[in-house]
Amino acid sequence: MTALHIRLARPHDSEAISAVVRESWLSANKSLLPGDTVDALERCEKLGDFVASAWQSVHIAILDDEIVGTVGVNPTGVIWMLYVHPSYQGCGIGSALYDHAIGTLRQAGSRKAVLEVIASNENAVAFYRSRGWVPEGRRTEHIPGFRFTAMRMGLALA
Ligand SMILES: CC(C)(COP(=O)(O)OP(=O)(O)OC[C@H]1O[C@@H](n2cnc3c(N)ncnc32)[C@H](O)[C@@H]1OP(=O)(O)O)[C@@H](O)C(=O)NCCC(=O)NCCS
Repeated sequence: MTALHIRLARPHDSEAISAVVRESWLSANKSLLPGDTVDALERCEKLGDFVASAWQSVHIAILDDEIVGTVGVNPTGVIWMLYVHPSYQGCGIGSALYDHAIGTLRQAGSRKAVLEVIASNENAVAFYRSRGWVPEGRRTEHIPGFRFTAMRMGLALA
């Protein structure tokens, strides 16, 4: 694999980041969604718009000038997203972004990291569990046509 470069996002990266997030989210969660909701999600730019508006706390992984993954990390200790484009999963990019996010939190002096993951996303839950994260609670959320349980997980950094 060519050298992977991770840096903070800039405003003009927003569109490419949104595309990675949409593709990755849909590939991870498609089986949970009724078909019409998938269509609706594919059409709607909601998720992409949100990421675009929060680009200041977004870091991106770049391979051959292409944005292939992204992590959103808030200095208060929240990792609020971690996505790798489906074409690039399984190559170590998620681990590199994750390590980068944890490094960012440690540098900011955070003593604890938290995140939420869709409970049925077994790959992601396993990814975090193998890195020491523990479940701390659950909540159920509704978006039109889609109901899911989010698992809150935590990791001590001190
Ligand atoms: C979860 C995710 C970020 C991991 O990124 P990645 O680049 O694929 O992961 P890596 O190549 O660094 O591998 C990390 C681990 O995942 C495992 N893994 C990678 N791809 C996998 C797959 N398709 N199925 C099962 N395990 C897989 C690796 O074996 C490795 O295991 P380890 O934790 O024991 O070391 C990525 O798969 C992804 O974007 N998934 C969809 C979005 C998502 O679920 N995000 C997290 C919730 S917010």
